[in-house]
Amino acid sequence: MTTIPHATTLYGPVGEDLILVEDLIESTKRVELPLLNRMLDHALAAKGKRLRPALVLLSGTFGDYNLNRLVPLGACIELLHTASLIHDDVVDGSVSRRGRPTANAIFDNALTVLLGDYVFANAAEMVTRTGSLEVTRLFAMTLMKMTSGELDQDAAAWDIGKDIQNYLRRIGGKTAALFTTATEGGAVLAGCSEAEVDALRSYGYAIGMAFQIVDDILDYTGDEALMGKPLGSDLREGNVTLPALFHLERYPKDNPVNRYFRARRLREERLQEALAAIRESGVIESSLDMAKEYVRRAEDAVRILPDSDGKDTLMTIGRYVLDRDV
Ligand code: IPE
Ligand code: IPE
Ligand code: MG
Ligand code: MG
Repeated sequence: MTTIPHATTLYGPVGEDLILVEDLIESTKRVELPLLNRMLDHALAAKGKRLRPALVLLSGTFGDYNLNRLVPLGACIELLHTASLIHDDVVDGSVSRRGRPTANAIFDNALTVLLGDYVFANAAEMVTRTGSLEVTRLFAMTLMKMTSGELDQDAAAWDIGKDIQNYLRRIGGKTAALFTTATEGGAVLAGCSEAEVDALRSYGYAIGMAFQIVDDILDYTGDEALMGKPLGSDLREGNVTLPALFHLERYPKDNPVNRYFRARRLREERLQEALAAIRESGVIESSLDMAKEYVRRAEDAVRILPDSDGKDTLMTIGRYVLDRDV
């Protein structure tokens, strides 16, 4: 069995309890239909960083740390994340994830969409176990925001005319919404005060924004083997993320991104030129500065919380999001 990277080093007081989340996720694999069984086995075999369920549990430490309610929400959030990745890989045409072939690479797109639906339903079933109508509503709203964010991204593809505002809206939907629900949901379930729920909600949103900006940087600068997914693929797919946006803004005349998007011949060469120009031009640093600004906001948001192991861990996660190479 794969172990959860960072569980003991990064997730502090909740690292051990994450195993309970794992058990719940595992329990969703038992189904009768052999084909579905195989697909679920594949989808749930490789484990990611488990950052979102860790944030659920950490947020719960600021109130009544009741694992009977927090663990199902942790599993729900991770299953929602997993389902969204299953669909995202179909949408992006990605062939590897978490160091393994994607479901769509093995089972084809049609079956993979149904697999994603099934895992979404598993997430919905988990959220009912929290017994909270408020958190169930948060879950539903989050799924709407994530879907809208992915559609928003598709609508902006191959378009060099979209601005940073548009980019921030897209990633707010597809990524930060889920981080927000992880922290807000954990705080609500633990019965935190309104001020504490607000603080943790703001933290989740800002960390989610920073996380996606760094993901978009790593798509240019990361190590493919470490990340376990193909890099350089955002630009290849026409997805103009922050580094490319900054580059287009800074060099509006005869920009290599524009040249790649318009090229009819030598597309691979044009793509490599654009990737190299972005890596070498200082826009990576500017993008990282924006991620740092979000992490600062996240830290500011939780300053009102009482000092604790949990709070220190939230701060550590902020630094990790900026420094991570996976
Ligand atoms: C990948 O998320 C999708 C993004 C929001 C960038 P993670 O990097 O958290 O994926 P896993 O769960 O660790 O594989
Ligand atoms: C994040 O977007 C995917 C979701 C939030 C569903 P990406 O497309 O950048 O994620 P990766 O790079 O495939 O992990
Ligand atoms: Mg993708
Ligand atoms: Mg990405």
